[in-house]
Amino acid sequence: MSDFRSDTVTRPSAAMREVMSSAEVGDDVLDGDPTVEALQESVARWVGKERALFVPSGTMANQVALGAWTRAGDEIVVEAAAHIANWEGGAAGYLHGVQTRTLVGAGGALDPEAVRGAIQPASVHCPQTTLVCIEQTHMGSGGRVVPLEALQAVHRQAYSASIPVHMDGARLANAVAASGIAASEWAATADSVSICLSKGLGAPVGSVICGDADFIERGMVVRKRLGGWMRQAGMIAAAGKMALEENVERLTEDHDLARSLATKLNAFDILHCPPDEVETNLVMVGVNSPRFDADDLAQELAAHGVRVLPLGREILRFVTHMDVGPEDVEKLDAALLDILG
Ligand SMILES: Cc1ncc(COP(=O)(O)O)c(C=O)c1O
Repeated sequence: MSDFRSDTVTRPSAAMREVMSSAEVGDDVLDGDPTVEALQESVARWVGKERALFVPSGTMANQVALGAWTRAGDEIVVEAAAHIANWEGGAAGYLHGVQTRTLVGAGGALDPEAVRGAIQPASVHCPQTTLVCIEQTHMGSGGRVVPLEALQAVHRQAYSASIPVHMDGARLANAVAASGIAASEWAATADSVSICLSKGLGAPVGSVICGDADFIERGMVVRKRLGGWMRQAGMIAAAGKMALEENVERLTEDHDLARSLATKLNAFDILHCPPDEVETNLVMVGVNSPRFDADDLAQELAAHGVRVLPLGREILRFVTHMDVGPEDVEKLDAALLDILG
């Protein structure tokens, strides 16, 4: 199967498995795990923050941030298509008693004026706005890199109202590879940042949440309550450390492949995905046909050995990653020719 559903499907290489099996480990909860600590230090350094915490998933990293920054009854401002607002099972309300105020952005970028307008006045009648969330890269807009100036403007706006900014940087490494701008420069536009090691970077599991020492102290309490403090986690932290050290630059290969995939797909009448809108490894493809909706086409492709993810009736998501290459794009192209004629 050629699997374009997500960059989470990659399997650890033989070298990564070797690093995992030889990792030095300890009980991270009792006395610390040296490999987890080494990973946390290197991610904190990479994003230019004081400290970092290793957690099992990107969802938990974001939810640790929400729990550390907010109290029940608060409101957070978040872009309407963001993962935090749409794909975390309503965790903001379920776990923290926090409501979300969503703003429609442009290519993932929030309008700073709209952010200003969304911040609630200090009043006994209103929820208090205590966090603004941004996402880099922005999944809902097809992996767009939100421009640095746009993020800086939102940060300035939030800062002037004394409200912290959390960056869901699940794919921050893709923004770094695509832009050449350092992770620390991107992360300086936020007070906390989460990154995923198990997406394009290719580790089997793990995310990291970073911020200043006070934030991390509060975050440790939230992680404990969520059951996310792991024991001999050095085995997976070792894979994450290797992924960060070795796999950031190679993400440009995924981005090039995504553009060539979009060029091929856009040539089919019923598919819409302008290649010049593809900036990283995600390609959102519009399907417009009386014969097929996105689900039908995904099923047809699966029968031809190609897996893709339908998002609703009219969108198919394709993601490039280290376990697919040009030959998989050729196979996809041949399958579509066969299906669509
Ligand atoms: C932008 C973004 N944030 C957070 C997550 C959550 O990561 P996880 O699946 O590890 O919980 C994802 C997962 O796809 C994502 O795309």
